Amino acid sequence: MVDLDDEKRRAASAAADLVRPGMRVGLGTGSTVAFLLEAIAARRVSATFVATSPGTQRAAQALGIDVDPFSDLARLDLAIDGADQVDPSGWLLKGGGGALTREKIVAASAERFVVIVDSSKMVASLTGPVPLELMAFGLHATLRRLGATVLRDAAPSPDGGVLADHFTRLDEPMVVSRRLADVAGVVAHGLFAPTMVTEVIVARADHVQHLSPQGEP
Ligand code: 5RP
Repeated sequence: MVDLDDEKRRAASAAADLVRPGMRVGLGTGSTVAFLLEAIAARRVSATFVATSPGTQRAAQALGIDVDPFSDLARLDLAIDGADQVDPSGWLLKGGGGALTREKIVAASAERFVVIVDSSKMVASLTGPVPLELMAFGLHATLRRLGATVLRDAAPSPDGGVLADHFTRLDEPMVVSRRLADVAGVVAHGLFAPTMVTEVIVARADHVQHLSPQGEP
């Protein structure tokens, strides 16, 4: 039987080794990132950290990791986050935990965005739904334009956004990504392009794999 928690722990531990003293580091959200926080806390590296969710901020602080607000920093050296699905070309589907907007901002602000996953996240092709964060203003008009979208039974995002899931085929993620980004009222969607991703660290039963969607630097 595959021990997914063990895989998450090993992927997280490999990523924690990338954190160097003095770096500005973005911390993602989710159960894999929970292992990352433990690994970073154990290494006691003196770096500046920002969090993609209040949950990550609380968990980091509980482990003794200082978290700064992400308001004054213009860029990050490194961001590390999990993903719900990773396809062979490096497209990610994220947002299962509802933190997609802040996760996308943090990933886009980082010189290196490293994704940590267990082997179950590697898929032959992405399958929806695509998580969305929507503006509360004009919500029903936005839903009508989107079609095939179900509101989540979840609290609003920390930025007041409404969380939803959009049902669509994902044979061409770029086409869907552009279509969703073009809908007024969509704050962010959970498709992350391979161009954002520096490295995917996948832990498997017997080894840890390092994949570079953009090819070797
Ligand atoms: C949260 C996310 C998470 O990174 C994604 O859901 C993976 O979570 P986990 O590590 O718990 O499987 O995108 O919005």
